Amino acid sequence: MIILGIESSCDETAVALVADGRVILASEVASQDDIHSLYGGVVPELASRQHLEVIVPLFKRCLRKSGISSSEISAVTATTAPGLSGSLLVGDNFGRAVALALEIPFVSVNHIEAHLAANFFPQLPEFPALGLVVSGGHSSLFLVSGPNNFRVLGETRDDAAGETFDKIARVLSLPYPGGPPLEKLAATAETAIRFPLPGVNNSYDFSFSGLKTAVVYYLKEHPEADKAAVAAGFQNSVVKGLVRKLDYTCNRHKVRSVLTGGGVLANNFLRCKLKEWAEEKGMELRIPSIAFSLDNAVMVAVRGFYLC
Ligand code: KG4
Ligand code: ZN
Repeated sequence: MIILGIESSCDETAVALVADGRVILASEVASQDDIHSLYGGVVPELASRQHLEVIVPLFKRCLRKSGISSSEISAVTATTAPGLSGSLLVGDNFGRAVALALEIPFVSVNHIEAHLAANFFPQLPEFPALGLVVSGGHSSLFLVSGPNNFRVLGETRDDAAGETFDKIARVLSLPYPGGPPLEKLAATAETAIRFPLPGVNNSYDFSFSGLKTAVVYYLKEHPEADKAAVAAGFQNSVVKGLVRKLDYTCNRHKVRSVLTGGGVLANNFLRCKLKEWAEEKGMELRIPSIAFSLDNAVMVAVRGFYLC
């Protein structure tokens, strides 16, 4: 069963062809970072126009690279929520048009669930699983009882983890998206400033605004501060807070594996600390490769496969 996956919820246009929910036939991603970095953040109007420009060429390139013909596609899946509405509409509309033309089903996919489905190939994990999604728009904890059974346990009460990386990067005069340059700067630090941990005590919810404010005030009070030490201190707090929240949740739910996803998982320090924690805990941990932690369409096709 070959599924066409389409992703356009924010500032990446992505198209993929996946067979049987586990064999990637083609995967194309067009990033808009160059366009939005000029403005220091995503400009929704520009994002949707750019999706429209590239979505057809990406689809054609996927067909060419996979060597299949469009008549071999069994179903079309696209991210239809959550995300920027103008951006979502491009992938949603294009997907429905392809499905109509090929007379095959169209299936709507939730973007956050798709990030967790990036852990479903090449084989399914052990269920029940705990799912952590930390991206530019979301920070959520899920109880995943099966490939089609997602229950939200906790969410951020204010900013998302990636959004906080982007905001702190901006006050450190780093370009958008802020996660990668902030991680690079932190890696050069000789010391790290201590900042409060994000999160809400005795809850599955996250909160990043207190940490964000603490860093901003620190920089106001110490204009000559070593920026690398600030970046490292901020990154330490986010990572420690996320690991602590996972541990707290794992101690209260009998799960057989932990799944992760979202752009912040591209952070190598976070990946290392999660692996250390899982090893100590004796827990099966899945972290998608960096390409599949960031927005992509393979995860959408895989999520769609289980919904078909
Ligand atoms: O999942 P994603 O590609 O898009 C959304 O669904 O939001 O996540 C993008 C987010 C951005 O906020 C970006 O700064 C963050 O992921 N990110 C990182 C790193 N690479 C990307 N955050 C921390 N460290 C990184 N290396
Ligand atoms: Zn995402």
